[in-house]
Amino acid sequence: MTDQTPAPYAGPKRVLSGVQPSGALHLGNYLGALVKFARLQHEMKTLIFVADLHAITVFQDPALLAAQTREIAAAYIASGLDPKVATIFPQSAVPEHAELAWIFNCVARLGWLDRMTQFKEKSGKHKERASVGLYTYPVLQAADILIYKATHVPVGEDQKQHLELTRDVAGKFNHDFGAPGFFPLTDPLIEGPGARIMSLRDGSAKMSKSDPSDLSRINLLDDEEAIANKIRKARTDPEPLPETLDELKERPEARNLVGIYAALDGRTDVQVLAEFAGQGFGAFKPKLADLAVAKLGPVGAEMRRLMADPAELDRILKAGGEHARAIAAPTLREVKEKVGFISAGWL
Ligand code: TYM
Repeated sequence: MTDQTPAPYAGPKRVLSGVQPSGALHLGNYLGALVKFARLQHEMKTLIFVADLHAITVFQDPALLAAQTREIAAAYIASGLDPKVATIFPQSAVPEHAELAWIFNCVARLGWLDRMTQFKEKSGKHKERASVGLYTYPVLQAADILIYKATHVPVGEDQKQHLELTRDVAGKFNHDFGAPGFFPLTDPLIEGPGARIMSLRDGSAKMSKSDPSDLSRINLLDDEEAIANKIRKARTDPEPLPETLDELKERPEARNLVGIYAALDGRTDVQVLAEFAGQGFGAFKPKLADLAVAKLGPVGAEMRRLMADPAELDRILKAGGEHARAIAAPTLREVKEKVGFISAGWL
């Protein structure tokens, strides 16, 4: 009997992730993604980009896109990412992402993309009016990851399906081109209390840049008063906090605030309940507000300091782009050889 198990990937471990410059960064982005980037940079080679190619799948005002790209870079650094340790760059500075995405467009199947829930949510009732880019968005995401042969991708829970598609693309490419183990089957790093932060106004909707209500989210650039005010106004219920997580099942807003407290404090939900069980929101909310202000206040202040010097941010992003390209180019050359493009040897 032949062994059907695909060859394992034997290359180095690498972290890759990105955030779209398509609106104000919020607490969900921070807890679901940014804090993980800062932690992982000390464990593996880490590349973190600003997903400007993804952002334009929905029209972006050009001047705003440039400003938001710098804002995201500032948020990365303010959350602890060190440009001397990690590589920070704009996606568009590395054309290899888009080139590999084209090849992957020819590997991925329509049926895979038809299943993507995020496209369905974002295109809404008028799918025919959405950009073609919005539809093939997850294929570009697979290229972002695999152009660096990234093995670990820290993201929030909403990206799970895109990462499953990335594994499918990698597996099919390796199979179709007789290259077992060429691309890794990337591991998503999702777990943790910050993986799914919900809206402060509706415990059944995720906290999102596109929610029309600013009270639904805490932005990283909110000042202390705004942070405290949004927590004060957060929707809750009249019951005190229970002793077990099970008892929060039917109380999504309460569950969310406990999760935010835990994620900000580096504790588990269970530990937070152990401390606050029996107390109502009148007591819990001020404690949460103090914690949020203490943790997020310095991040916002550091972002503002960094954004006051756009030339320095541009210098970091440019150097990061050059470094990232040096890793991406050889992968693309290998891919082109495998696909049979004679131009592969001319590079
Ligand atoms: P984006 O810009 O929507 O979000 C950036 C990161 O924040 C996480 N996130 C959340 N986590 C917890 N709770 C929430 N409410 C919440 N909202 C957002 C997201 O999961 C994400 O990790 N497609 C990606 C960008 C991207 C990417 C990639 C990521 C493009 N290519 C390659 C990883 C690898 C996106 O739109 O993220």
